Amino acid sequence: MSMIDAELLKKYNRSGPRYTSYPTAPHFHTGFDDAAYREAILRSCLERPDGNISLYFHFPFCKSLCYFCACNVIITHNESRIDRYLSFLKREIQMVSELVGRHRKVVQMHWGGGTPTYLNPAQIEDINGFIRRHFNFDSEAEISIEIDPRRLTQEHLPTLRRIGFNRVSFGLQDVDEKVQETINRVQTDDQNTYVIRESRHLGFDSINVDLIYGLPYQTLASYEATLDKIIAFDPDRLAIFNYAHVPWLKKHQKLLPEDAMPDSSERLAILELINERLTEAGYVAIGMDHFAKPEDELTLALKNHTLYRNFQGYSTRSDAEVFAMGVTSISQLDRAYAQNVKTMKEYEERINAGRLPTMAGIDLTLDDRIRRFVITELMCNNRLLKTEVAERFGVDFDSYFDGFEAALEPFLLDGLLELQSEQIMVNESGRMVIRNIAMCFDAYLDNKSDQKKPMYSRTV
Ligand SMILES: C[S@@+](CC[C@H](N)C(=O)[O-])C[C@H]1O[C@@H](n2cnc3c(N)ncnc32)[C@H](O)[C@@H]1O
Ligand code: SF4
Repeated sequence: MSMIDAELLKKYNRSGPRYTSYPTAPHFHTGFDDAAYREAILRSCLERPDGNISLYFHFPFCKSLCYFCACNVIITHNESRIDRYLSFLKREIQMVSELVGRHRKVVQMHWGGGTPTYLNPAQIEDINGFIRRHFNFDSEAEISIEIDPRRLTQEHLPTLRRIGFNRVSFGLQDVDEKVQETINRVQTDDQNTYVIRESRHLGFDSINVDLIYGLPYQTLASYEATLDKIIAFDPDRLAIFNYAHVPWLKKHQKLLPEDAMPDSSERLAILELINERLTEAGYVAIGMDHFAKPEDELTLALKNHTLYRNFQGYSTRSDAEVFAMGVTSISQLDRAYAQNVKTMKEYEERINAGRLPTMAGIDLTLDDRIRRFVITELMCNNRLLKTEVAERFGVDFDSYFDGFEAALEPFLLDGLLELQSEQIMVNESGRMVIRNIAMCFDAYLDNKSDQKKPMYSRTV
């Protein structure tokens, strides 16, 4: 992969959204309540009675706090909280499934967190059975789960495989001891090796590992050693996240020594190394931060320009609306986003009142949907075909985005993209600043207060 030079990267290094949604979550509003979400579900089912769906379940619990973590987590040793949570989650599943009905097929299910495998195997089996009784699963559905290798019993992986999970994702983060101690996440090579070998043996279709770069005490040399070990595990996919340092939102990140974090030129060198080593090892770069083997369906989707991204990561199921359940989870429909309440207390109160636990959301206007499509295409497929905008939304791209060439001119002059009469094409170097390119199509950023508030992490 050809890389962008450090000076250029510095120029584009500002704060900006990661575009896991558009409009981004800070633009969801509390006027969108449970009645609005109910209406959005019913409208969706009227418009797409046979439309495939995707399910997301959030399990917020973890046994200890990793100091880098930006996820929505609850740290607890009180295991009885799980059964209580599951009883409320079941009531939410009941409510949502009654609205969605059993006609629409589930083609994808993902369990995220927190740490879903904080649940013991019996609890996993119980809630999985409940979900399956309330929704209609396609026999080929992609069923995945996030796993912390430190907290598994010997029964976890065989149970998951037996009840239909076919994809596993392991949080590894970094294998260097000093980095691990600093981030409060010590995880041995033996633990990592065991879970990956066992998953292969059990025949999961796909094994993903999560890594992070930009953490304290990571150096080019330490990261090289980490990559060597990870490549030897031979995962099918890797998600290598740029560490999002947002201590104003996640206070515990202040426990990390900022002066030990790699500076922007070291980060860039690590990123170059990641690209070099993984490409040599036969992986293909997917979107901003993922890598997959050439035969992986994500790689094939990238080639066919059908890759898609949502809150759960990259996906090939772009047509499936996501119905998310559990505290803090976000549903993603064609015409609306709906976010659940963030605290357990509110979650229980809403469900006890017989309401969906929706805290905020947004009904998408046609303009939102057009811009979401443009941003998603650029971020996932590195190009935008103007005819697709016309076909999907009945608008002429050039007149709708009058003046877009001027906004993209700096990227053009810096050799990061090509403007053709029929399409915008982002090249390999442009991918490094894809968030900045996407920002040119974000109507909400015109609001200057966005840029003053430290709302987002750095773009590169
Ligand atoms: C819910 S966790 C994965 C499952 C499990 N809890 C674990 O840690 O093994 C989701 C992933 O988000 C990534 N992540 C969390 N905080 C992050 C941050 N501040 N910046 C970048 N990536 C982060 C980590 O790689 C982590 O594996
Ligand atoms: S990284 Fe995973 S295990 Fe660590 S606190 Fe976050 S969600 Fe929990």
